[in-house]
Amino acid sequence: CFYTKVDKDLCIACGSCGALAPDIYDYDDDGLAYNLLDENQGIAKIPQLFEDDLIDAKEACPTDAISLKRNPYKTE
Ligand code: F3S
Repeated sequence: CFYTKVDKDLCIACGSCGALAPDIYDYDDDGLAYNLLDENQGIAKIPQLFEDDLIDAKEACPTDAISLKRNPYKTE
């Protein structure tokens, strides 16, 4: 299983991730992406159904702003 979050310092609002994985990524008012499943905390397990989209989005991001982990991220 996977967990994901977007590093907003790296995101350039290119829009690829939300196009490829609309069930996982959405954009804030500045057009920066975040994980909509858990407010970008990286603590919600990505449903298996969306895993292919997740990998596609990660690979498509031009700035490598999308990170994936096998375990939940630590909350801040
Ligand atoms: Fe940003 Fe990368 Fe998505 S630049 S909008 S996180 S594909």
